[in-house]
Amino acid sequence: MPTLHEAVEAERVKRINAIFHDAEARLYENRHPEIFDGLSELLVRAIGRLSRDRGIGAPRRAVDVGTGTGFMPMTLRRATRAGGDAQWVLCDISYNMLRVARERVTSAGCRVLGCVAMDAERSALRPGVADLVTASSVLHHLPDPARFVQGCRQILRPGGHMLVAHEPRRGFYASAVSLPARAALQLLRIVGGVRARLRRSGTRAPDRTFWDEVQRGLEGAGFGRMAPDEVQRLVDYHSPTAGARLDTERGLRPKELFGDGWTVVASGTYGHLGKLALKAPRRRLLGRIERLLARAFPRSGSLFYVLAERAHE
Ligand SMILES: C[S@@+](CC[C@H](N)C(=O)[O-])C[C@H]1O[C@@H](n2cnc3c(N)ncnc32)[C@H](O)[C@@H]1O
Repeated sequence: MPTLHEAVEAERVKRINAIFHDAEARLYENRHPEIFDGLSELLVRAIGRLSRDRGIGAPRRAVDVGTGTGFMPMTLRRATRAGGDAQWVLCDISYNMLRVARERVTSAGCRVLGCVAMDAERSALRPGVADLVTASSVLHHLPDPARFVQGCRQILRPGGHMLVAHEPRRGFYASAVSLPARAALQLLRIVGGVRARLRRSGTRAPDRTFWDEVQRGLEGAGFGRMAPDEVQRLVDYHSPTAGARLDTERGLRPKELFGDGWTVVASGTYGHLGKLALKAPRRRLLGRIERLLARAFPRSGSLFYVLAERAHE
């Protein structure tokens, strides 16, 4: 049982996530080139390979949790016919994200069975309904990711699969492999700071509108005004790079998430330069350094994905 303090903190994190992502919904794809360019290509290749070599089956019912603007269904459709044939249930804590997701996912040719506004840690779905549950870049937003993974186990039928992607691996920024990534992070922060100062306004125009909306949401919900770095640290609750300060104690360990009741079918790491090479996938030199590091240290990237199967009882 969480202490009272932990329970209050968890509710605060979830509420602030909803406010932040409601404000971000229309800008989301532009604000995250590392997902829509870098990760998308990487997953299309990885999922295509997995479905050919290991067969992740042909899900009839798939649930995408923390769907955002629908990245997972759209990526699965590109990677494999199976993703295209599935009927998708899209879940998110943000209503605005769900609105955008329904529009995007339907126009990409995926079948949407329904959209559910819900907190990922408290699933409203019936046990055993899904053949596949996906969650990309979601777990680090949740106060209790292990509880969420166990909840997903309930939603899955025995033998069903869960695909988790784009989560920060705990331990990366404390290891020597992260030195180039740490240098890249520092550089990005300096360049970002100088740019903001040159524009005098402190932030870029679209960003300013976004943050104004976040602040309005926070004030409306009774949190009062908060510094953007503090908001970012609460939103990206388990991310070592969120906010102004690198926190090497943050991050997730795949082994702690998928314990009893799961068989890990495949897993991998990437992002050896942090998100840098993913943000600019067409920069050849960055891509080459990233590939060299990935070849030399395949299990040591900053980000990870896991495909796990729900064990038969
Ligand atoms: C970084 S976005 C990822 C979106 C999409 N899966 C992708 O890969 O592009 C994280 C999403 O998780 C949602 N989210 C955050 N906390 C949540 C919670 N407690 N329950 C459900 N969704 C949540 C956010 O609203 C947001 O849409």
